[in-house]
Amino acid sequence: MTHRTIPTTALGANGPEVGVQGLGCMGMSFAYGPTDADASRATLERALELGVTLYDTADAYGAGENERFLAPFLKAHRDEVVLATKFALSIPPDDPTRRIIRNDPPYIRRAVEASLERLGVDVIDLYYMHRRDVNVPIEETVGVMAELVREGKVKHLGLSEVTADELRAAHAVHPIAAVQSEWSLFSRDIEARVVPAARELGVALVAYSPLGRGFLTGSFADAEQDLTAGDFRRQQPRFTGDNAARNAALLAPVRDIAAAHGATPGQIALAWVHQQATVHGLPVVPIPGTRKPTRVEENTAATALTLTGEELAALNAIAGKVAGDRYADMTFTSAGRE
Ligand SMILES: NC(=O)c1ccc[n+]([C@@H]2O[C@H](COP(=O)([O-])OP(=O)(O)OC[C@H]3O[C@@H](n4cnc5c(N)ncnc54)[C@H](OP(=O)(O)O)[C@@H]3O)[C@@H](O)[C@H]2O)c1
Repeated sequence: MTHRTIPTTALGANGPEVGVQGLGCMGMSFAYGPTDADASRATLERALELGVTLYDTADAYGAGENERFLAPFLKAHRDEVVLATKFALSIPPDDPTRRIIRNDPPYIRRAVEASLERLGVDVIDLYYMHRRDVNVPIEETVGVMAELVREGKVKHLGLSEVTADELRAAHAVHPIAAVQSEWSLFSRDIEARVVPAARELGVALVAYSPLGRGFLTGSFADAEQDLTAGDFRRQQPRFTGDNAARNAALLAPVRDIAAAHGATPGQIALAWVHQQATVHGLPVVPIPGTRKPTRVEENTAATALTLTGEELAALNAIAGKVAGDRYADMTFTSAGRE
């Protein structure tokens, strides 16, 4: 069993130092089928042993359940963890399957109190706006987030799925430590505008779904056939029908490069994301989600891989061939508004 820990990087110009790979906790309570709470708890512990410090959750993951699940772990390890959570996806009481985007100050004030309570902490290290409500000026939203910093409820601010212009407007109100957006071999849209803006402003990029929600590992090939009813991935255009078959075929070079390194396809997918820090000149912290300690070992080991220029070029060509959007409704993504 290895105890070698991963390198660290700073989250933004004035942000906290974190392990260069974080842990996405969403699947432990939400979205990806049946969960095993004991295995998830062991995963949280194993990640910390390996130098993972950025733990990612959101109030919307299981309607607060994921934050509650993390509370005992945080109680035991509060000072070792950089805790990130998010607000903005409000769940209407009459329909728990729906989400309404809320960015207005009264909503944010209620949301932060509820998250602090569920997590059992006094302060959130990194508080993200999860999705953008275009009807509320971003200056107003970040204005109240900045008040939360001054009040000591939150330490650093983040934004998820914002455009470059939204990031610039927000950063002018209060420093933004990190933008969290989907970034992987399959999803490179943020490289056009968001990544250059983040580099210019000294903002870190936290890459969510860096394993393409598991598809890049080869652990499933067709969501409708391979995943259980209710799994969120069955609604995603890339993972079903003809698109899934076409996209699975795109993984051949990933497998070849993995074989050359004695690595797994998932490790190559993560190494590609880690190497974008050098390619684009900004801190990049992928937050792969897993509920299995052995997979945390596999995923963190990817921080030690270096891909050649030729390998990067072969991998770079994949995203342009992917069939289907990364969400069924792209209006909630930065790409959908840019
Ligand atoms: N800001 C946003 O809007 C947003 C959106 C989506 C996600 N997120 C955050 O980003 C985190 C990561 O994204 P994600 O979970 O959507 O996608 P991901 O990290 O790309 O993939 C997670 C999936 O890959 C599987 N997996 C992980 N490591 C593996 C390995 N070594 N071998 C084979 N399979 C492996 C996991 O299964 P097991 O769990 O069974 O290992 C899970 O099904 C989430 O947990 C969440 O915190 C944020």
